[in-house]
Amino acid sequence: MKSTIWSSIRHYLFRCLQKKNGCEHSSEKLKNDSSFDPVIYSLESPKFHKFVLNGSNLFKGWVFYFGDKKVNQIYVYADAKPLGSCEVNLARYDVATHVPSLPAVENCGFEISVECKESYKKIIFYIKYHDNTKELFFEYDVQFIKRMSYEMSICSNNLDKLKMPDGPTVKLTQGHDNVEEYFNSILPSVLAIKDYLSFSGVGIEKANNLLDFGCGSGRILKGWYACHPEINLYGCDYNSHLVKWIKNNLPERISVFENDLTPPLDCPSSNFDLIYLISVFTHLTLDNQKRWIKEFERILRPDGILLVSLHGEFYVRNAFFHHPEKLQLFRDQGFTTTNNEGLEGSNSFGTFHSLSFAVQLFEKFELLGFFPQGNLPDRRRVFHVALSQDIYVFKLKKNSSIQHNMVAEQA
Ligand SMILES: C[S@@+](CC[C@H](N)C(=O)[O-])C[C@H]1O[C@@H](n2cnc3c(N)ncnc32)[C@H](O)[C@@H]1O
Repeated sequence: MKSTIWSSIRHYLFRCLQKKNGCEHSSEKLKNDSSFDPVIYSLESPKFHKFVLNGSNLFKGWVFYFGDKKVNQIYVYADAKPLGSCEVNLARYDVATHVPSLPAVENCGFEISVECKESYKKIIFYIKYHDNTKELFFEYDVQFIKRMSYEMSICSNNLDKLKMPDGPTVKLTQGHDNVEEYFNSILPSVLAIKDYLSFSGVGIEKANNLLDFGCGSGRILKGWYACHPEINLYGCDYNSHLVKWIKNNLPERISVFENDLTPPLDCPSSNFDLIYLISVFTHLTLDNQKRWIKEFERILRPDGILLVSLHGEFYVRNAFFHHPEKLQLFRDQGFTTTNNEGLEGSNSFGTFHSLSFAVQLFEKFELLGFFPQGNLPDRRRVFHVALSQDIYVFKLKKNSSIQHNMVAEQA
C-alpha cells in the first residue's frame, strides 16, 4: 500500500516538474508532506467582479501569521510604484473566535483605499512584520480583470437575478451569517475551482454533468448557473432545509436532491464528469468518507474528476495548539478528528488529513493536483474557495469505475 502512495506522489511531482509554471517550488514542499504557509488571510473586497478599473478601490480583509511573528503593516504597489500603506490593527473578533490560541488575531483586520488605473499590470501587496522584515503577500492581477471584465459582467448580471438565502440559512453552511460576503464569494469560488482544475490539466469544457456534493444552499451552483449555461448542474445535501430552500428559490436548471448521511445516491452509474466537495469530508467520520468514496467511484465516469477540500496543516495546528499529543497522533497517522462531541456532518465535528493519508484514502484515483491551503504552486491565491483548506484534484483510474460497475451489476 505504502509504495502505491509514494509512487502516486512521485508521479505527481514528476508531472509538476514538467510544467513551466513554477511548480518546482511546491514540489520541494511536497517531498516532506508538511507544506505550511503561516500567513493566513482573507481579502473580503474588492472581489474581482467588483473591482473598479479606473478609480478608487477599498481593499479590506484580515491577515495574521500563525506563529511567533506579528503582521504590522501592508504596503501596496502598482507594478513598482508605491500606492500606499496601512496598519493591520482593526478589531476582528469574528476571526479571533476561530483562532483562540493567538491573541494577535483579535486585531488582524486591515482596510486601505487605493487609486487604480487600468494600465497597471498588477497591484502588489507586501506584508511587514513587527521585526521590520517584509515579504510578498499577493498580487492582484489588473490585466486579468480587464481581460475578463465582459465575461464577469455577464456572470454578475445573471447572478444578481438569483435569490440569496437569509443570514440564518447562510450561517448553517458558512460559519457566519453575512449575506453580502456569501454573495461576493460565489464568483471567486467558481474561478478558483476552474483554476485548480486547469493547473491540474483538466479543462472545464469536459464537464457536461457536474455534481456539487454537500451543496448547502447552492452557493457555488449559483455561480456555475450564472457563468456556464452549457453545464448540467446537480447538487445534493443531507440537510433537508437547505435542499428545500434551493428547490423553492433557485431555477429548475439547478437540480437538487436530498441524500442520507451515508450512500447510496439515487443516480445511475458513470453519470458525472465532475464531482466536487467543498468543506464536506472536513465534517464526516473516516468510515463514512470511505463509503462515499466508493459511491463516487460508482457515479463518476471512467476518467471522471473529483475535487475535494480537506483540513490540512493550518487547521490541525490551530485545532490542537494546546494538545501536542493530538498533533503527534496526526503526524503519526496522517489523520485525526476533533473530539467526537460534535454532530457528524455539522461544522462542530472536524477532520484533518495529511497529503499522504489522502492519497491512500483515494487509492482508486490518481492525484492530478494538490494545492496546500488553496494556494497555487508558485503564489498565494487572492481568493480561495474554502479559506485555507487544502484542495485536491483527483482523476478516477479507468479500471476502477468499470470494475465497480460490474460488482454493482452482479449484486
Ligand atoms: C460547510 S458546509 C459547505 C456547503 C457548500 N459546499 C459551500 O461551500 O457553500 C458543508 C455541507 O455539507 C453537508 N453535508 C455534510 N454531510 C453530508 C453528507 N453525508 N451528505 C451530503 N451533504 C452533507 C452539510 O449539510 C453542509 O451543507
